[in-house]
Amino acid sequence: MSTSRRTVLAAGAAAGLAATVLGTTTAHAAAPRHSPSKKHFGTLADGTVVDVWTVGNGGIRLQVLSYGGIIHSLEVPDAEGRLANIALGFDNLADYVAKSPYFGGLIGRYGNRIAAGRFTLDGHTYQLPLNDGANSLHGGTRGFDKQMWHVEPLTRGSDTGLVLTRTSPDGEMGYPGTLKVQVTYTLTARGAWRIDYEATTDRPTVVNLTSHTYFNLAGEGSGSVYDHTLELAASRYTPIDAGLIPTGELARVAGTPFDFRCAKPVGRDIREGDQQLVRAKGFDHNWVLDKGISSAPRYALTLAEPTSGRVMRMYTTEPGLQFYSGNFLDATLVGTSGHIYRQGDALCLEAQHFPDSPNHPAFPSTVLRPGTTYRTSTVHSFSTR
Ligand code: BGC
Repeated sequence: MSTSRRTVLAAGAAAGLAATVLGTTTAHAAAPRHSPSKKHFGTLADGTVVDVWTVGNGGIRLQVLSYGGIIHSLEVPDAEGRLANIALGFDNLADYVAKSPYFGGLIGRYGNRIAAGRFTLDGHTYQLPLNDGANSLHGGTRGFDKQMWHVEPLTRGSDTGLVLTRTSPDGEMGYPGTLKVQVTYTLTARGAWRIDYEATTDRPTVVNLTSHTYFNLAGEGSGSVYDHTLELAASRYTPIDAGLIPTGELARVAGTPFDFRCAKPVGRDIREGDQQLVRAKGFDHNWVLDKGISSAPRYALTLAEPTSGRVMRMYTTEPGLQFYSGNFLDATLVGTSGHIYRQGDALCLEAQHFPDSPNHPAFPSTVLRPGTTYRTSTVHSFSTR
């Protein structure tokens, strides 16, 4: 995509026109809005009732669990207007609790890995639970994706959505500070799904919130995503060591399998004998978005699926994008529609700060101090071609 076109799209997103996409149709502009409604989804072992909330707008339907703020399903039309659920998940609560690889999860306090589960802030060293070999992943053994959230419906102008709140106590999963978190999922009348994250703390801490939806634009359970095309507006990425921790280098993507600056199929270079791909069993890396941190969401990527014609563009305020090609799906999980999920049957695109930033002073800071508010936003806009 040319720079000028990208700029137009980014400006559109910033102005709340995320689905105004050049050369494509937004199939859903006239679709009705459905006020948020909730139903019983399941009950946790301790008796806590978990709801599934349903929201619809702009032709898109989103289902969210009060457990983990999980994106349970995301239905989006194809080029013929047929809806399919494009997010991996389970049809029951017990599987989400027992074996989910973070399907749809609201990730906190820290998206991705912190090396040895340890970091030092203002002279204090904090130890987090190790739940990924020698490292701490996605907030520890009981991160935000495994906690209950308070959910309120939201209607604002032509937008509709859900406001999720929770207070994470001081010391939860080893992190300092009482963290008050608010995450808003909004569906716009023009077929965009927006996530706004906010947090405040009463002690210095680190925060890196993201959403861990596994996308398959042909539909959940329909097979591999290797034919999806991906364009990523990033000239550099952060190489990883054997434990999938960034080495600290910002490496150029030019001439490597990591070059998605022009759209290419996800699977085209995934079997290259590149040491980075061997380590992660595919793509599982943070791309350094060329736009850097921005105060309003700016263009990051385009994901497209040729058969259905579905296209998803992402815009974010965040400086990084973790692209994970579903490498660890290993045919042991049966998903929402009763299909087995195999390696590469979905991919995650997690807009966030870089992994292990608390141990890399040169990376953009993830420190949050009392008196300041953490604010990040990511927009997913859907269209067809
Ligand atoms: C990580 C992967 C991890 C996966 C868990 C991704 O965000 O980058 O390494 O296996 O989450 O589902």
